[in-house]
Amino acid sequence: MTEKSRPIRTRAPHDDAPHQDADTIDFGYETIAASEKEGRVRQVFDSVASSYDVMNDVMSLGIHRLWKDTLINMINPKPDHHLIDLAGGTGDIAGRFLKRGGGSATIIDINVEMMLAGKQRPDLQKLTNLDWVAGNAEHIPVADASADVMTIAFGLRNVTNRLDALKDALRVLKPGGRFYCLEFSHVRSAPLARIYDLWSSALPGFGQVIARDSASYQYLVESIRKFPNQETLSAMFAEAGFARVKCRDLTMGIAAIHCGWKLD
Ligand SMILES: C[S@@+](CC[C@H](N)C(=O)[O-])C[C@H]1O[C@@H](n2cnc3c(N)ncnc32)[C@H](O)[C@@H]1O
Repeated sequence: MTEKSRPIRTRAPHDDAPHQDADTIDFGYETIAASEKEGRVRQVFDSVASSYDVMNDVMSLGIHRLWKDTLINMINPKPDHHLIDLAGGTGDIAGRFLKRGGGSATIIDINVEMMLAGKQRPDLQKLTNLDWVAGNAEHIPVADASADVMTIAFGLRNVTNRLDALKDALRVLKPGGRFYCLEFSHVRSAPLARIYDLWSSALPGFGQVIARDSASYQYLVESIRKFPNQETLSAMFAEAGFARVKCRDLTMGIAAIHCGWKLD
């Protein structure tokens, strides 16, 4: 079966689905009811799905490709590895993992439009052992101890209860497995931070021209600014139960890769 013809599956959430306990939460600079965030995030990605890959190249001047390659180098995929890529969207990470020799991959995302856009990609249609599943990173629809490696790239920022997502990733990893989070972070150099800030302010304008949607890119910019810094996210990894937590800055902290291990 080719990737294009393979259906997107839906599965019931795991029985131990964690519950939301905070009443309100950030949606960019807005404070909204926590129960509304998933729907608002889904609307953002419904709107940008068809232009998502092009916009990524425009907004990052192609640099997101280097960051994703760095992530795959750190993972060092093996033929007997199964990857679960949370918030996998149009399949950039899972695709790279398989092209670099990984055994099999499952993409899990709340947004079917993003996955449908990914299934149209000619480079992904050639890949076998790639599965697309509709589901939420906070209660991953997968059995305990079923993944060798897990990733979430530019996804954690959008998740309502991030600690729940990290804890559930730990549940799904096999002992000895690793979890990687690639996400925008906090710039370490003051001159670069000023340039980056100016560039970020222009992004909603690019979004309007290319995707006919400035609001979604305004959310993107605001959600990046509100996201925890490197140290806070490392502490959150440790709180979730990950061991050997490490963080690697990319482009002086514009983005960062956090990694944690499940030891037993
Ligand atoms: C910025 S895109 C990243 C896509 C891909 N990982 C990449 O690096 O290109 C964020 C993705 O996260 C998904 N997402 C947001 N919240 C989610 C959640 N709670 N569970 C699963 N996916 C989620 C969105 O639908 C969207 O596809």
